[in-house]
Amino acid sequence: MRYRILHISDVHVGPPFRPAVAHALIAQAHEIKPDLLVISGDFVQRADFADQWRAAQELCAALPTPQLVVPGNHDVPLFNAHLRLLNPLGRYRRHISRNLNPIFEVPGLVVVGACTAHGLTVDGGRLSQRQIARLRGILACYGPETCKVVVWHHPVLTPFGIQRNRTMSGANAAVALLDECNVELLLCGHVHVSYVGNTLDVAHDLRNGTIICQSGTSTSSRGHGREHGKNSCNLIEIEDRAIHISQMLYTDEADRFITIAEHIFPRRG
Ligand SMILES: [Fe+2]
Ligand SMILES: [Fe+2]
Repeated sequence: MRYRILHISDVHVGPPFRPAVAHALIAQAHEIKPDLLVISGDFVQRADFADQWRAAQELCAALPTPQLVVPGNHDVPLFNAHLRLLNPLGRYRRHISRNLNPIFEVPGLVVVGACTAHGLTVDGGRLSQRQIARLRGILACYGPETCKVVVWHHPVLTPFGIQRNRTMSGANAAVALLDECNVELLLCGHVHVSYVGNTLDVAHDLRNGTIICQSGTSTSSRGHGREHGKNSCNLIEIEDRAIHISQMLYTDEADRFITIAEHIFPRRG
C-alpha cells in the first residue's frame, strides 16, 4: 500500500491571494498526481463576497481530484449577521462542497473530514458533541489494518513562536477522541505556519497520540511566524510500515514548492 496525499490550506481567495503562487501550485499538484488532495479550510478571505467564492470555486476546479475539503472560519460570513447566524456555511456548500462531513476511503486508508467552523465564533473553532459522536461512530467502523486520518481546520495546539492562542476550544477532548479511535494522523491549518508534531504535546496521558500535520497558507500573503509572507503545503505518503511527511515551502527562485523538512513515523502495529 502506498498512497500520497497533497495537503494544502488557507488559500484565502480575495485581497491576500497570490495568483502566481496558485498557478505554480496547480501545475505542481498535477505533476505530483496525488491519490487525494486535502484542502483544510479558509477558501476565501471574506465569505460575504460572491466574487471570492466564484474564484475559489475556479481554483478548486483547476486542482487535481479527488479532493477532500473542510471549511474554515473565514468561510463563514463576517459582516452579514443574518447569514452568519442562520446559514453560516450556505455559500461554502453552494460553491465548494455540499458535504460538511466528507469521507475518502480506499483499501487500507480512510480520511474523515469534520467542520470546526461555526457561525457564532469569529476566529476559534470547536467540535460539537454531536460531531464528536459522529466521528466516533465512523472511526469505529475501521479496524487496525486501516490507517485513519482526520482533517479539520482549527489546530489542537498553537505552534511555538505564534503569540496569540489559536487552539480550538475543547482541544483536550478532541485529541482524546483521536487517541481513543486510533487515528494516526490529524491534518489542519488556520495558523498560517506549517507544523509537524504529536498530540502527546497537548495531553500527556494519551495511549499512542496522533501525529499532527499543519499546513501554512498555501497561496496567500498571510503567513505567520517563521512563515511570515511565505507559502507552504505538505506531501504525505502513507505506506504499510511508515508515514512520510514532507513540509514544502514556495520559493520565487524555483517558482515551485520545495521540500524543507522530511519526517518519517512508523505505522501503528
Ligand atoms: Fe486562514
Ligand atoms: Fe482560519
